[in-house]
Amino acid sequence: MQKEKKLFITSALPYANGALHLGHILEHTQSDIWARIHRSIGRKVRYLCAEDAHGAPIMLRAEKEGVTPEEFVAGTREEHWQILQGFNISYDHYHTTHSPENQEMVNRIYNGLNANGHIETEVVEQLFDTEKNMFLADRFVKGECPKCGTADQYGDNCENCAATYNATELKNPRSVISGGTPIIKESLHYFVNLRNFEDMLKDWMNQGALQEQVINKLQEWFEMGLQSWDISRDAPYFGFKIPETEDKYFYVWLDAPVGYLGSLKYYCEENNEDLEDWIAPNANTEMVHFIGKDILYFHSLFWPAMLYGSGIKVPDSVYVHGFITVNGKKMSKSRGTFINASTYLKHLQPDYLRYYYASKLSENIVDIDLNLEDFVAKVNSDLVGKIVNIASRCAGFISKKFDSTLSSEMNNSELYQQFMDSSDEILQLFKERKYSKAIKIVMSLADSANQYISDMEPWQAIKDESKKELVHRVCSDGINLFRVLMSWLSAVVPDTAQKTEEFLNISFANWHDINQPLFNHTINKFKPLITRIEMSSVESIIEDSKQDLESLEQETGNLSEHLTNDPINETINFDDFAKVDLRVVKIINAEHVDGADKLLQLTLDLGGEKRNVFAGIKSAYKPEDLIGKNTVMVANLAPRKMRFGVSEGMVLAAGPGGEDIFILNPDNGAEPGMRVK
Ligand code: 2FM
Ligand code: ZN
Repeated sequence: MQKEKKLFITSALPYANGALHLGHILEHTQSDIWARIHRSIGRKVRYLCAEDAHGAPIMLRAEKEGVTPEEFVAGTREEHWQILQGFNISYDHYHTTHSPENQEMVNRIYNGLNANGHIETEVVEQLFDTEKNMFLADRFVKGECPKCGTADQYGDNCENCAATYNATELKNPRSVISGGTPIIKESLHYFVNLRNFEDMLKDWMNQGALQEQVINKLQEWFEMGLQSWDISRDAPYFGFKIPETEDKYFYVWLDAPVGYLGSLKYYCEENNEDLEDWIAPNANTEMVHFIGKDILYFHSLFWPAMLYGSGIKVPDSVYVHGFITVNGKKMSKSRGTFINASTYLKHLQPDYLRYYYASKLSENIVDIDLNLEDFVAKVNSDLVGKIVNIASRCAGFISKKFDSTLSSEMNNSELYQQFMDSSDEILQLFKERKYSKAIKIVMSLADSANQYISDMEPWQAIKDESKKELVHRVCSDGINLFRVLMSWLSAVVPDTAQKTEEFLNISFANWHDINQPLFNHTINKFKPLITRIEMSSVESIIEDSKQDLESLEQETGNLSEHLTNDPINETINFDDFAKVDLRVVKIINAEHVDGADKLLQLTLDLGGEKRNVFAGIKSAYKPEDLIGKNTVMVANLAPRKMRFGVSEGMVLAAGPGGEDIFILNPDNGAEPGMRVK
């Protein structure tokens, strides 16, 4: 029989240019719980992360602070690692991408891609800052939008009209770094030809380990056509030099994910393990990445392609989570809800937040709201009021009346059995990342345990000498049930779990230990394992966060090469919505598109004007059934160049996919061109 696969688990590498905030902690908590659960069932787990250390923003930041980039990233690595440990994130190692191990892995991957014909070069025109003597990344240049003229727009897209363009098209561009006017200069760039990987990526996508929303997103990207990926940056740059070049560096986004392997390589060398046993294409391992939805493109297209193209095992799963909102809104610096992880730790224990996050996390890519009042109420009610309450109601009797020793049999073995009957289901839910569902079951069983103690009233029964043995058994039942509940929660609240281990003289290392209840077992004196959160602590966090504002702005300002947009479901306000021009159109022609699996080409009549639109509805409609029908389109969507031609808008459709996609079909009384209200 084949041995169970070893697990290599990672979280996205924190960028060295910014402070860790509560959004980061969501991801590290999600992956940490998953790693701990798998360790507790005996899986061989290597749970690793690292500091993402390269890029122009780091170089400029270090310069501003008067230190070398190496010194700067060594400092932030230490800071970030301290904070992660403060939240009990149990990485087996926290490395840095600025390391010899990572450089070796980067070169290995690049050389592999090159040898297999996946690297190409092209001369590109870019804006160049003659004062700083450097090419300007899109985020380092501002100017007027070439489409609508709005001032102060970055070099990639316009916040006003949403047009995307090249930085060289900006009118009156200026360098964000020096303030000077940049010139246009040519430079040779290196690209990975992503189209070479289209078939492989489609196979990978269908292997079954991706979330449905991720698959949908990938399908959209395939339909839009894969572009070559620019992986080089010119000197000066803080990063690794591209082999056999003088002044070309790897773009930070190339070496960042490789950092997963750099960290693993370091770990293997330190622990006498063979790296190839982990990363060979046929290795008996499972490689699992936890990431946020904003960096999906990198992890679901570039990363598997790079690995495959250089002969390394591709990821088995990329688990994507949503963003954090605080009190229902995007984290805001001025409201004090942009909360640094270090600020939180100054005022509150990590277990509170870990528990709250777990109670909300699911396997889906949904945003999670940290409602601060609900946070306080839930933690106090669940952890303090339900879980620890069971121990505090029973422990005193055991230590005072029964010599700190549990009874030799149970009073209510049915209840214990009922708990045991749920254990596999809870484990399965944790494995499937359905933490909130797991916690719901744990809490409802905690209610049953509390109810049982209330019904038995040991505090009354103890007054009657003849019921002494009953009290012993009831309170021992309570302690045993508490142990089971805490064992289930031990991956979620490790500090409280550790105190419980000391209190009960037990270990939670093995999930299945609870199958055997504790009899004749000596426990220690009960001390409060966790205390209530006071709202005043939360208020202090908000106050401190308002004061952090200035430093935060410096740290996480816009100068990030990692800046990406949420591709899945960022909320929009009404003004954004009002910009969408929805119109009734008549489908006057519909055709198959040569070479496209999912698209139909539609010709739409928009009240006299004709539009050509590619719509991903082939699986649900025959072209001939569409002709003559009315439908609804987004008429003011910027034209998109697709592989098969330019799409001038989008028709609205809904449904899970396959045959079940439905276009909106207004009454035939509606006239083409009518605005949808
Ligand atoms: O988005 C970010 O913050 C990046 N530092 C994540 C990198 S993840 C991986 F690719 F290293
Ligand atoms: Zn514009």
